[in-house]
Amino acid sequence: MNSFIEKVDFFKGNNPEDIAVRYGTPVYVYNEEILRERMHTVAQVVTKYPYTANYSIKANTNIHLLRMALEEGDNCDAMSVGELMMLEKAGFPVERIFFVPNNVSADELQYAIDKGIMTSLDSLSQLELFGQLNPGGKCAVRINPGVGAGHHEKVVTAGKKTKFGVAEEDIDQIFEISKKYHLTIAGINQHIGSLFMDPEPYLKAVENLLRIAMRFENLEFIDFGGGYGIPYHKLDDEAEFPMEDFKKRLEPILDAFVEKYGKAPLFKSEPGRYCVAEGSVILGRVHAVKQNAGVKYAGTDIGMNVLVRPSMYDSWHDVEILRNGKVVERKELQEITVVGNICESGDIIAKNRQLPEMKVGDLACVLDTGAYGYSMCSTYNSRPRPAEVLIGKDGSVKVIRRKETLEDLFRYFE
Ligand code: LLP
Repeated sequence: MNSFIEKVDFFKGNNPEDIAVRYGTPVYVYNEEILRERMHTVAQVVTKYPYTANYSIKANTNIHLLRMALEEGDNCDAMSVGELMMLEKAGFPVERIFFVPNNVSADELQYAIDKGIMTSLDSLSQLELFGQLNPGGKCAVRINPGVGAGHHEKVVTAGKKTKFGVAEEDIDQIFEISKKYHLTIAGINQHIGSLFMDPEPYLKAVENLLRIAMRFENLEFIDFGGGYGIPYHKLDDEAEFPMEDFKKRLEPILDAFVEKYGKAPLFKSEPGRYCVAEGSVILGRVHAVKQNAGVKYAGTDIGMNVLVRPSMYDSWHDVEILRNGKVVERKELQEITVVGNICESGDIIAKNRQLPEMKVGDLACVLDTGAYGYSMCSTYNSRPRPAEVLIGKDGSVKVIRRKETLEDLFRYFE
C-alpha cells in the first residue's frame, strides 16, 4: 500500500498541512469514523449470549472518545480512581464500569465501594482488604491463568513472570477469604497480554479460564480480557486481526461451557488498542536532516515524550511523508532514521526505514497512534503535551484537547 491516509481518506478532504499550521506540531489527529466503527465492532463479538465489551480506557482516556464508546454500546474498564472519574464525567453509569486495578490503597477501593462500582481484586491480599472494607459485598477476582502472550515481554500480563492475578493453585484461598468476609465472588477475569494477531492463544486462554470457572458457583460474569491486535505494518499490507474467524471459533467454546455450567453468565472482553489505535495519526514537522556515521536522520518534533512506544518497546509505527499537504510517493526509497527532539539516544520514532527523501519543512505522519499514544505522553525535557484534534464524520475539524502551554509547566509549583 502506498498510503494508508489516502486509502481511507483519513483527513476527510482537509489538507493536513493546514491542520499542522493551525494547531501546531506535533499534533494528534483522530478520525471519528474509524474510531466509532472499531468501538461498534467490539461490542458485537458475542451475539448468542449476554455479552459486553469493556473498552479498556488506559489506551486512550480522551473524554470525547469515551463518549463515543458509550454511544457505540461499549462498557468500560478502569485502572485507577482517575480513570473512574473520567468515565463518570463522560456519562457512564456505574453499572457500565468495571474497576480492574492492582495494588491499590484502601482509599481507592473505598471510592469504588461507595460508588457501587464492580471491582476485581488482583491478589489475595487485596481481596482480604476489600473484605475488611466491605464485608458482605460483591466483587470479582483476577485469575492468572499461567500462560501469557503479547508483542513484547513488557506487555505479557499473565504467566509465571508477571505480577498480575491470583494463581490457579491459590483458588482455595479465594474461597476461604470470601467465606471469612461473607463476600460474593460475582465474576472472574483475566488479561493474558497485549497485541496478538493470531486468535489461537486467546482462544486457548478462554478455554482455560472457562475450565477454571467451573470451580466457582453462580458466577454472574466471566471476563476474558483484551489484547486484539491491529496491523502496525499496514504499508507492507499486513492483514487485519481476523475478527470474523475469531468470533466463529469463540462461539462453540462458549456453547460447550454454557452446557456444562448449566447457565450462561455475562461474558466480557476488555479491548483497548483495537478500539482506538488505527483511529489516530501524529503529524510532526521535520526540522533538520543530517548524516552521522553513514546514518541519515530526519529530526522531527515528535519526541519520545509525544510517542514513547518505539523507545519503550521497540514498537513499529509506519510513517508517511507529506510535502505541501500531499503524500510523497514511496519510490526511490532510502534508509532513514526518524528521530525526535528529546535529549536521549533512544529518542527514535522509526529506525532504519525505507522512506522517500525527507526534507526540512516536510511533515512526518506517524500511523496507528490512537492507543497508548497520548495516554503515555509526558512533559519530559519540559515540552508541553500536544493538542488532540478530531476529524468528524462530516469532515469538520475540532480540538478535543488543547495543546499545553509553557505556562502549564509551572502550574504545580508551590
Ligand atoms: N485489560 C487489562 C487488565 C489490561 O491490563 C490491558 C492492557 C487491557 C485490558 C487492554 O489491552 P489491549 O486490548 O489494549 O491490548 N502500553 C502497551 C500496552 C500495555 C497494555 C497494558 N494492559 C503498548 O503500548 O503496547
